[in-house]
Parts: sequence; C-alpha cells; structure tokens
Amino acid sequence: MPPETLPRPAPIGNAEYRERRTALMAELPPDSAVLLPGASLVTRSRDSEFPFRQASDFHYLTGFPEPDALLVLLPGRSEGESVLFCQDRNPALETWTGIRLGAEGAVREHGVDDAYENSERESCLDALLDGRTTLYLLLDDPDSLTLAQAVRGRLAARARRGARPPLAFADLAPRLHARRLIKSAAELALLRHAGAVSARAHQRAMAAARPGLAEFQLQAELEHEFRWQGGSGPAYASIVGGGANACVLHYVENRAALHDGDLVLIDAGAEFDLYAGDITRTFPVNGRFSEAQRALYEVVLEAQQRALDAVRPGTTLAAIHDGVVRDLTAGLIRLGLLEGEVVARLDDESVKRFYPHSTSHWLGLDVHDVGDYRRDGEPRPLAPGMVLTVEPGLYIPADDDIPAPFRGIGIRIEDDVAVTAEGREVLTADVPKQVDEIEALMANR
Ligand code: GLY
Ligand code: MN
Ligand code: MN
Repeated sequence: MPPETLPRPAPIGNAEYRERRTALMAELPPDSAVLLPGASLVTRSRDSEFPFRQASDFHYLTGFPEPDALLVLLPGRSEGESVLFCQDRNPALETWTGIRLGAEGAVREHGVDDAYENSERESCLDALLDGRTTLYLLLDDPDSLTLAQAVRGRLAARARRGARPPLAFADLAPRLHARRLIKSAAELALLRHAGAVSARAHQRAMAAARPGLAEFQLQAELEHEFRWQGGSGPAYASIVGGGANACVLHYVENRAALHDGDLVLIDAGAEFDLYAGDITRTFPVNGRFSEAQRALYEVVLEAQQRALDAVRPGTTLAAIHDGVVRDLTAGLIRLGLLEGEVVARLDDESVKRFYPHSTSHWLGLDVHDVGDYRRDGEPRPLAPGMVLTVEPGLYIPADDDIPAPFRGIGIRIEDDVAVTAEGREVLTADVPKQVDEIEALMANR
C-alpha cells in the first residue's frame, strides 16, 4: 500500500516576495542599488549537472526558479524598483532544458516590475546603475563582486562622457539575513511541512530497521519518503551511522552493515520548497536498547527535553547550550564516565571530549541558516519567528579508559523548533524519541 500523502502547504505568493523587496529597500539609501545574482548550474561530471538549486538569498527575494538570473533593486525608480534579468527565450534550447520564462514571463508569473533577458544584460545594467552611489551586494560572493566590478569599470571608463560609476560597494548580508532570520507565517507553514515530512521519513526508517540491513538501505527509506511527499530530496547529505559510525559527526558514507546490539544514528531532513527539515534520532537496530545504551540515551533525552522547554522569547542559544552542557556533564558523572564534582568538570569543560559541538543553529532556507548569533558582542535574545534546532549528543570513544559497555556509542537527538510569542512550537514532534515509544514502534514493525 503506498504511504499516505500529507496535505501540502500553499507556496509563497508573489505578494510576499514583493513585500520582502519593498521592506529591504526601505532600509537602503535612495541613491543605492542592490545587485543579487541567482545560482547557476553546477557540473557534476563531464557534461552532466547537479539538479538545479536556486540560491537562498535570491529565492527569498524573488521565488524565481531558473538558473543564471540576476535581481537588481533600484529604490525610488519611477519605472519600477525590482528588475530581473533572466535567460533568453530560445525555442531550440528549450527542447532540451524545458521552457524558460523569458523577460515577459518573469514579469507575468513572478510579479517583478521589469525584466530583461541576459543577452541585454550589460547595456541595460549599466544604464540602470549609472548614478547609483552605493551598490549593495553579498561581499562574500566572488561572482557578485566580479559582476559589480565589471559594471563599475565600464561606467568609470565613460565617466568623461558623463557616466557616474558607484562610489562604494556595501554588504547586503547583514540587512538581508536579519530579515531571513524572522520567518513569516507562510515560511513557518513550509518549515512545519518540511518537519512533518522529515518526521514521517524517520518513522519509516525506524520501522524498517533490522540487523543485516545496510546503512544505505535506511537512507533509501528516508529519501523515498522525502520525494514521495513532494520534497526535492534531502536538505543536506543524510547521515546514517550504525555503531561507532555514529561518533563521526559528518558521517555520510552510509555503506556499513547494521549490527544486532548496535544503535543507529540518523540525521536527515527533507527539503520542501527550498525550506529544510533537520531531525536526528538514535535507536537500536534490533529494536531494544541495552542497559548502557538506554542509560546514556536518557541523559541526552533529558538534556534535549529541558533545552526544548527553555526555548522562548528572551532567552539565548548560549543559555540553552549552557544548560545542555550542565545536564550532560551531570549525567556523565552519574554514569561514571566523568569523575568529581559537576562544578569542577564544568570549569575544565570535560564534556567537550564527548560533546564537541553546539546545541543549536538557525534553520530555514539553509539548513545552517543565516542570521547573527550575537549582537553587540552579546548572544542575541530569541524572538518570535526565529526557527532553530535543539540537538544535544554524546559520542563516547572506544578508548581504554572508557567502561566497556559505553565504548563506541554515539547518540544525538535533534528537533526543529519555532519561537512563538508564548514560547515554542516543536515542528518535528511526530517522530518518537522516548525509549518506550521507540521500542513499541519497532516491536510492531
Ligand atoms: N545535519 C546537520 C546538523 O544537524 O546541523
Ligand atoms: Mn542540525
Ligand atoms: Mn541534523
């Protein structure tokens, strides 16, 4: 029987993309301009390419899905402030690539004010940017810089004939990324859906697991569900690590066999309309936790639950991480994996041997989403509309000084959570994480 299809949220409409552009321009000086290229196709090997994935910043401001486009924002321009450059219509080429919207289609379908095809790019761009004093672009993006320098060079060469090249380049990233950090209702709906699809995929992998399967076969279960539900695929390379492979934080080979008596750690999330889910679950391959596995798992689970409960406006990711470090440190002392008093072990940061990463990151169009983590040197307070992960873990090396039952166990539990006015909404709650729930789901598989 085919799996159920979840109802899909509405795509983000042109009106919202327009509002985003307008709001961004309202922050910029009137004689400035924004220059923001979209993504191009990337070669996979020889003449085949990776599936196209639009650049997140460009997508955020346009929703325009084709490669090799360019957005120019011109605050105050009477003929229209949002100008898009896109690929030329070319019926012969479109036989191979599928239809390209062209300039007319871009205005009609995507609601930009004005559009040109790339064959006209140089001359139009120079005319549009002549006299704009400051160009805002992503200074970390070499393609943006090259493009801006080329325009500047051409205008500078014509300065004697009256052309007015830009006097300065400024970074668009702080303003744009501050906006992306706070998600709209439509974005939250997409993140909720990416979370729900990812949760189903994890349930499916849990139900399929048994000794003798390979890690890649659980990966196949996950990724089948991502596509079945209309997602584009994984939002990042899926991690399926059995046994000690779970201790390799970015383990993506997923080639090993799954063994009776081992745990398996799965860190995988679907991408839906370019928004990412990001879930980690860790469970026994054979469906039953051993005593040591359960003891360690409960330490991580308790830390994770307390961290989730702490998410609310006004707190900080640093405070949440500090709470996790305290809880994990105390748990490791209880289990005999660390010695001495909690205070002393917090002082010498002993937990870093077993927990070397931080607890949270922003989540959105990028799995490690944009947005400052600090403001004026201080951790920034959480606010409604922010979306983050909570993902504590413990990774116990197979070293001689470690009690044998704990060696090579890796555990991480990760959920996605939106900050709301009242507190939080966990977006990935549909996948079990209590020991009893996991064992029950697996017993019935
Ligand atoms: N899957 C990447 C992360 O959890 O941050
Ligand atoms: Mn994560
Ligand atoms: Mn993850």
